[in-house]
Amino acid sequence: PTSSVCVLDSKDAAGSAPCAHSLDSIPGPTNWPLFGSLVELLRKGGLKRQHEALIHYHKKFGKIFQMKLGSFESVHIGAPCLLEALYRKESNYPQRLEIKPWKAYRDMRDEAYGLLILEGKDWQRVRSAFQQKLMKPTEVMKLDGKINEVSADLIKRIGRAQINGKIDDLYFELNKWSFETICYVLYDKRFGLLQDTINNEAMDFITSVKTMMSTFGLMMVTPVELHKTFNTKTWQDHTAAWDRIFSTAKLYIDKNLKSHSNGKTGNFLCDIYHQSHLTKKELYAATTELQVGGVETTANSMLWVIFNLSRNPCAQTKLLKEIQDVVPAGETPQAEHIKNMPYLKACLKESMRVSPSVPFTSRTLDKDTVLGDYTLSKGTVLMINSQAIASNEEYFDNGKQFRPERWLQEKSSINPFAHVPFGIGKRMCIGRRLAELQIQLSLCWMLREYEIVATDHEPVDALHSGTLVPSRELPVAFVRR
Ligand code: HEM
Repeated sequence: PTSSVCVLDSKDAAGSAPCAHSLDSIPGPTNWPLFGSLVELLRKGGLKRQHEALIHYHKKFGKIFQMKLGSFESVHIGAPCLLEALYRKESNYPQRLEIKPWKAYRDMRDEAYGLLILEGKDWQRVRSAFQQKLMKPTEVMKLDGKINEVSADLIKRIGRAQINGKIDDLYFELNKWSFETICYVLYDKRFGLLQDTINNEAMDFITSVKTMMSTFGLMMVTPVELHKTFNTKTWQDHTAAWDRIFSTAKLYIDKNLKSHSNGKTGNFLCDIYHQSHLTKKELYAATTELQVGGVETTANSMLWVIFNLSRNPCAQTKLLKEIQDVVPAGETPQAEHIKNMPYLKACLKESMRVSPSVPFTSRTLDKDTVLGDYTLSKGTVLMINSQAIASNEEYFDNGKQFRPERWLQEKSSINPFAHVPFGIGKRMCIGRRLAELQIQLSLCWMLREYEIVATDHEPVDALHSGTLVPSRELPVAFVRR
């Protein structure tokens, strides 16, 4: 079923396929009245295993399929040619699926929206205010000093927290590392989360982000209006968490603006505020969402690369050699060094391919769009199943194997749309370069200090919980070199 789908599209330079089929003819799992495919999905392991079900459905139905879960209808694409077609037809203001609970909170408190929920021209205006600082390589490289300070703390923390090389709740330690880094970058403030005793303000801040993230999932699949009307515990916890996040973020944003009120400063937020025409309210919301977007995603990707290196000691040895060759002993690794470390970059890329943090992203089409053999109408929710592509043998030989070398072949045949862990097009992740630099530098620190060893070789599954988290505490230990 996978072979013919993109053929029509390549003939269709103008974007209108003369014999494109309608939505109804797209294949998909059994669509029962009322429930759609919900029961089937639950039988396949439920929402926690939805990413596996999607891979299975692509194998069964091909590059494109449609699915209904209750009243929620979506079309799923899982082939590089379809992602490329979507990318080429992208409008000026692409949209993702709405995060209604976040919008409901902002509307209630009269706060603005940030990049994760903005749409249209307002999204573009806020995006361009942050684009240069976060996406221009030379700008991001300047953040290496801050990243290194926190990385050094992480290494010391591992040294103190390990018992026989094992860390109790490594994921939380990494969440503290990514939280500390993003706060340092945005607010120029150290919260001290990697110290042995954490002050109340810092603990409250990180706990609030955790609570906010863990309470909105339910309100994505049940009407948020109902939660609000009946003031459910989920709604109460969610709004109280946002209240705490906003009040702390505002406090530190205001402090930054006040201490650099004269304009050109080199201060991250002041530069953005003075060089753009954002209102303070917009700055509060956009900054807060950057902070929220950058914590678990980065920690999770770091966690999986640690795991993959523990299971692939040859790759780890090769990586350590590259680090030692490029960064002289006793010197601090810098962004400039990373430019000469292709194997390090390949290890991260490969880890994000075999163990992605985010298995899919979405688009809500704002115009009728022809993709492959099908015409999708305006308003269609499109799921971009990046994990299904990255795990497909058609695009990656021996796809289950962690093989960084596949990214270093001179004549690579890998389609760039086959690996999109940060999404595609104008709405691609704005924190991508920061996250990559953060993980790459921290890996340099970590491998110089520790060998990462596997403590067992039993499988570790990935479960969907916003990001893809390991099904059990990672079987890894840090052995000092
Ligand atoms: C969007 C993944 C780190 C902030 C996204 C998207 C993905 C993603 C898949 C959706 C893109 C799309 O729809 O095409 C990741 C991963 C990360 C990471 C895997 C770590 C390895 C970060 C960091 C920040 C951040 C560090 C903050 C500095 C955002 C924001 C958006 C976004 C604000 C929405 C952008 C927009 O719509 O304009 N991310 N992200 N992310 N990410 Fe990240």
